[in-house]
Amino acid sequence: MRAVITGVGHFVPDRKLTNEDLEQMVDTSDEWITTRTGIKERRILEKDKPTSYMAVEAAKGILEQKNVSADELDLIIIATSTPDTYIPSTAARVQNKLDAGNCWGFDLSGGCTGFVYALATGTQFVESGRHQKVMVIGADKMSAFLNYEDRNTCIIFGDGAGAVLLEPSETGDTGIEDFILHLDGSGYEHLYTPAGGSLWPTSYETVEKKMHYIQQDGRTVFKHAVKGMADVSSRLMKKNNLTNKDIKFLIPHQANLRIIDAVAKKLDLAPEQVIINIQDYGNTTSATIPLAMSEAYQKRMMTPGDWIILTGFGAGFAWGSLLLKWTID
Ligand code: COA
Repeated sequence: MRAVITGVGHFVPDRKLTNEDLEQMVDTSDEWITTRTGIKERRILEKDKPTSYMAVEAAKGILEQKNVSADELDLIIIATSTPDTYIPSTAARVQNKLDAGNCWGFDLSGGCTGFVYALATGTQFVESGRHQKVMVIGADKMSAFLNYEDRNTCIIFGDGAGAVLLEPSETGDTGIEDFILHLDGSGYEHLYTPAGGSLWPTSYETVEKKMHYIQQDGRTVFKHAVKGMADVSSRLMKKNNLTNKDIKFLIPHQANLRIIDAVAKKLDLAPEQVIINIQDYGNTTSATIPLAMSEAYQKRMMTPGDWIILTGFGAGFAWGSLLLKWTID
């Protein structure tokens, strides 16, 4: 049994935060942000709405498109680093809001590689024959964990969600082909939110020291991201007897345009083989890959049979690539 993506969708909030807006908030410039990251604007969700709001909207879009009832879902996996609450899971709130009466679900914490991890996980339940319809969602409300006085982080991230529906393949010869995933926790302090968990429970001190905001050592993350995504994608191609010429699209995690360009160069891919939308949304963490895939699909860029590689790198460090053959007409 093979698992195939049969539906794809996304949701982004309406409100835009532009580089010009950020110039008013921290010591930065449109020129610096554009040349160092490629980002022009990001989307920000309303304060009173949580991550699950975006996840539900992305999933609903697919259910409507496919004329599938939420009751038919067997499993909902939410890749997120910004859950609505620690207890219960964001998946529980999404299940409730979708009114998906016959499923189970869970959150998966894989940082910016969360969606790739979640897609690999969902694939197992379809390939085993246990489930027929698995909704895999990447959603993050990064704005809830950003210090808008820290120019090192607040210019990079944005809010959004993307989702795919996984089902068994009717023909058996298309779908999620292979993946290689990695985790190296020795890099955890280079990109993390120190407090709020059991390591640093919330206290006056953690709030005063701004320990609930995302912190990162950008240069170190940058270096590891380029090497990680390029190496693992290259190994995945070799393992499957494919070359750069066989790949229709690389859909990389959108963290920094310079990272994406460096990965594409290492893999010897032409610009038209790489899907990029970082200019419009910044880094939406677990959402970048399904969001880019959904936009490309809406533009009718893929045709059935195309080889596509998804690749991600992020907090952990967690990274990996997934090879799939496109199925949707
Ligand atoms: N505006 C203006 N100047 C800024 C700035 C900003 N928003 N942020 C940092 N700077 C300054 C720094 O203070 C530094 O000044 P100094 O030389 O006087 O010390 C200078 O710009 C260069 O900083 P540096 O950190 O070396 O810049 P960089 O080229 O590495 O770009 C990142 C910084 C964060 C954009 C880049 O490292 C990056 O994208 N890293 C990956 C991070 C990421 O994507 N993480 C998410 C998960 S994958």
